[in-house]
Amino acid sequence: HVLKEGSDLHFIEQQLMERLPVSHVKVVPGDGDESPDDVKTLLGKEAAKIMTSFYQEDPVVTVTGGSTMAKVADYMQPVDGVKPTFVPARGGLGDQHEYQANSICVQMATRANGDYRLLYVPDSIGEELHAKMQQEPTILDVLQLMNRADIVIHGIGDAQTMARRRRASDDTMKKIVDDEAVGESFGYYFDKNGKTVHRANSIGLAIDNLKERSQIITVAGGASKRDAISAYLKWGESDVLVIDEAIAHHLLQEY
Ligand code: BG6
Repeated sequence: HVLKEGSDLHFIEQQLMERLPVSHVKVVPGDGDESPDDVKTLLGKEAAKIMTSFYQEDPVVTVTGGSTMAKVADYMQPVDGVKPTFVPARGGLGDQHEYQANSICVQMATRANGDYRLLYVPDSIGEELHAKMQQEPTILDVLQLMNRADIVIHGIGDAQTMARRRRASDDTMKKIVDDEAVGESFGYYFDKNGKTVHRANSIGLAIDNLKERSQIITVAGGASKRDAISAYLKWGESDVLVIDEAIAHHLLQEY
């Protein structure tokens, strides 16, 4: 039975690689909503393995937050002769501490025997102050580093779930609901056609033309994220998808 399952998943991966605008797809068994811990563990292991396969000499890796990325961090391992540097994709998005990109960078660096640079800029300050802070040499330094990342690894969330988790204001919540945002990634909320509906006021990665500069690894599982992931493929870019079976089946129907 296990063998059959493996070859079924392999078949699904092949199909998705033919249909989706990505170069590689890895599908792990299960539905991340039904057994979050098991599925995130599988996603984390696979994503960590794929990430190291992209290592070139002392790579810069830009990382988002989230519980899925926290699992990737759990499975990072040192690679002989390589010293990666981990940088958060955003300053601070109001997630709980262990799911913040900064915390995940520290975890990854510790396990991978690498370095990290952190970015502590709260997202609750006004735009003017943000603009000023972006001129600060120490912040500018980290921004430049994250924007020349060799590898970007990120999660995707359901828009309303993420807005609630970040305690979005009533106005923001209304915008997200009214404009029918379905997905979130890198602090951007987008609708099913891939149009940005709202952007969290945070300092971070410039998401335009990411693919030209970096290998982008997208990691997500759970049926509740299926619309978010379809929308992400229209909104953003990805080289490698690491997803669970629930999402894979949905994408097969959609594409
Ligand atoms: C956030 C990332 O921290 O985690 C988002 O900034 C992502 O890009 C989200 O959408 C996903 O969280 P989780 O817990 O579902 O992996």
